[in-house]
Amino acid sequence: MATAPEALAAFHDYEPEPEDFEAAVIAGLSKPQKTLPCKFFYDEAGSALFDRICELEEYYPTRTELALLETRAPDIAALAGPRCHLIEFGSGSSIKVRILLDAMESPEAYTAVDISREHLLKSTEALAAAHPEIEVHAVCADYSKPLELPRPERHPDARPVAFFPGSSLGNFGAEQATRFLRRTADMLREGRGDLVIGLDLQKHVSILIPAYDDAEGVTAAFNKNILARANRELGANFDLGGFTHRAIYNDEFSRVEMHLVSDRDQQVTVGGRHFRIAAGETMHTENSHKYTIDGFRRMASEAGFIPAAAWCDAGNLFSIHYLKTV
Ligand code: AVI
Repeated sequence: MATAPEALAAFHDYEPEPEDFEAAVIAGLSKPQKTLPCKFFYDEAGSALFDRICELEEYYPTRTELALLETRAPDIAALAGPRCHLIEFGSGSSIKVRILLDAMESPEAYTAVDISREHLLKSTEALAAAHPEIEVHAVCADYSKPLELPRPERHPDARPVAFFPGSSLGNFGAEQATRFLRRTADMLREGRGDLVIGLDLQKHVSILIPAYDDAEGVTAAFNKNILARANRELGANFDLGGFTHRAIYNDEFSRVEMHLVSDRDQQVTVGGRHFRIAAGETMHTENSHKYTIDGFRRMASEAGFIPAAAWCDAGNLFSIHYLKTV
């Protein structure tokens, strides 16, 4: 266990392996449908652009989920019961979880899991200072891989309630999403734990597409930042002006896809390898799956959860699900 800043109960640094960006870019550009994996969007510049996306008029998920959490926090708190151990995956700035902590009856502990060490420490320290009555643990880890969660020191048997907001599950493919849910259910079951998860819903493309292709071009800049990052970190030579951001809805897979379309025939060099990209050819960068309430309940049941409640806003834009393991 790494030394914890004063306000934290503990800092658990699992030292997640840095992913091989170069190998991923080369593998992606070698496929018939070229891809660049979205997990590399989030360097410092990309994270700042994502924060701006969350504030955009067109990007409804963040504000809709926040409002829904505010409205439903008493229902969530009632299902969670007193003295639980709240565990957040991909905790970021730990803003949404404060709504739950404020509504819950005497929460014992809060564990934040995030891959970004600096961000994690900053946000958990602030939360611990604001809630000295709660035992706060910070876990630096990749939550998309198996991991062992800390037990609260003061109350090791506090019931675990996991929290996975922001429709981040939507960026996983169906198989990866089911695997994540199954692993989470298995991890929570021993402590008779629950999962609270926020998911974006299927809706008309006239709402979906602008959310991923805003008028100001912030999402376009977010998408192209992966090229800038490859140029910076890998010495690649992507011409950012030679690609156009495109968001489309793929009906077959119920997902918004982001692509970068090549404006002309061009060649790019990465790690000494040359790739030809034809005019009109795309690099597929992100999938954002959209669910139905019933479809997600089926997926969660197959993964071993028992759906207990689901709520959505008046416009049917976004959903929050409460799932039990026993
Ligand atoms: C982080 N994730 C849930 C966002 C989404 O909506 O899929 C990422 C994003 N991509 C473009 N805009 C936002």
